[in-house]
Amino acid sequence: MHEFKYKDNQLYCEGLKVENLAQTFGTPLYVYSYETLTGHYLRLKEAFQGVNPLICYSVKANSNLALLKALVKLGAGLDIVSGGELERAHRAGCPSRKIVYASVGKTDQEISAALTSGILFFNVESLAELANINRIAGSKGVNCRVAIRINPDVEAKTHKFITTGKITNKFGIDLNRAYQILLLRKKFENVSICGLHIHIGSQITTAEPFVGAIKKVTSFINKLKLKGIILEYLNIGGGLGIIYDRETPQTASKYAQKILPLLRATGLKIIMEPGRFIAGNSGILVAKVLYIKPTPKKKFIIVDAGMNDLVRPALYGAYHQILPLKGKARGKGKEELADVVGPICESGDFLAKHRLVAKVKEGEYIAVFGAGAYGFSMSSNYNSRMRAAEVLVHKNKVFIIRKRETFSDLIRNEVIPDFLKGKK
Ligand code: LLP
Repeated sequence: MHEFKYKDNQLYCEGLKVENLAQTFGTPLYVYSYETLTGHYLRLKEAFQGVNPLICYSVKANSNLALLKALVKLGAGLDIVSGGELERAHRAGCPSRKIVYASVGKTDQEISAALTSGILFFNVESLAELANINRIAGSKGVNCRVAIRINPDVEAKTHKFITTGKITNKFGIDLNRAYQILLLRKKFENVSICGLHIHIGSQITTAEPFVGAIKKVTSFINKLKLKGIILEYLNIGGGLGIIYDRETPQTASKYAQKILPLLRATGLKIIMEPGRFIAGNSGILVAKVLYIKPTPKKKFIIVDAGMNDLVRPALYGAYHQILPLKGKARGKGKEELADVVGPICESGDFLAKHRLVAKVKEGEYIAVFGAGAYGFSMSSNYNSRMRAAEVLVHKNKVFIIRKRETFSDLIRNEVIPDFLKGKK
């Protein structure tokens, strides 16, 4: 479900014509729908109301402060992975008790800042990290909670770069080691192990891998109970897939039907960390067609958005639907086979390869769908390109939520040493 729809051969975001937004704000432009973003959050909350979970939106998917604030205002918590995301969570007004912190490489400064802020818990990814958190908490004279991130060794059936729950991945702790750590828990006197965490990967379109992972941790929880180890939280991570192409992912309620009984049986408080499910289809990337370039072998549609704006196609070979802003609704107009490429000096700079796309002319605009998650948040300044502007549409109103970068943003932190200054 999303609020990007064609009316009279024009793409609208909620009540506004996207072409007008492109003309007003320029391109490349990220356009988000408030209704879609918050609707996904509310739908998930409703589907899982049987266990009343704390839904900690995964900041890395799209960390724009306005979007974070929109979700936090509805009661969402946040899943963070760095000191920068901790700051963002604070700026968005997220109560510390609704923040969970994962990452295999938390630095001393980051741990210390999170302890000062009093987050709900750390998702701990190794014994060494646990010892370090314990040491830093001790030095600050505080106690803190952690959940052990379990690597359940399950196949998530997604792209190998976004699989995280196989034993060959760097994430989490295998069940045997986790068991040993829990037996030794009293050694870490400044830390209380209050739960378990799993996150097996991203863009997972069936419930089966989640079910497999949750079953494994459930029997682990039972094994711990026999040893008198009682936990309070189960954090089931994120990973719910969305529709980019012809995927048929389970809806929030189908997913809930499959895993709710398992979650209830644990008797633990449930935390979820969805990113893509909430943000993915709530944003599009709008670009302008610069040139049409026929070559002996193929046709290139050269647009003003590149891999620095949206890296997913280049990095994962990811599919994003591309449609013109003006034209017939999907698949009903004239199409041609082409590569849709950006201006970056890399052959890997493409948004679509060998794709049947609607015929477009120079000067017209296209929309790249499903760009709300891991779009702007993974963008860069490569080729000294200014990062795109972001706007949020709410009904018939549009709000700029990130200004387009300027040249001074680009060089703000660069310094020319004195010995290089002067004419010669
Ligand atoms: N929790 C943890 C611990 C995570 O590492 C992630 C994502 C999430 C939650 C949210 O996952 P989601 O619900 O969005 O699937 N850049 C890749 C995706 C990387 C995901 C990294 N971790 C992409 O563009 O597909």
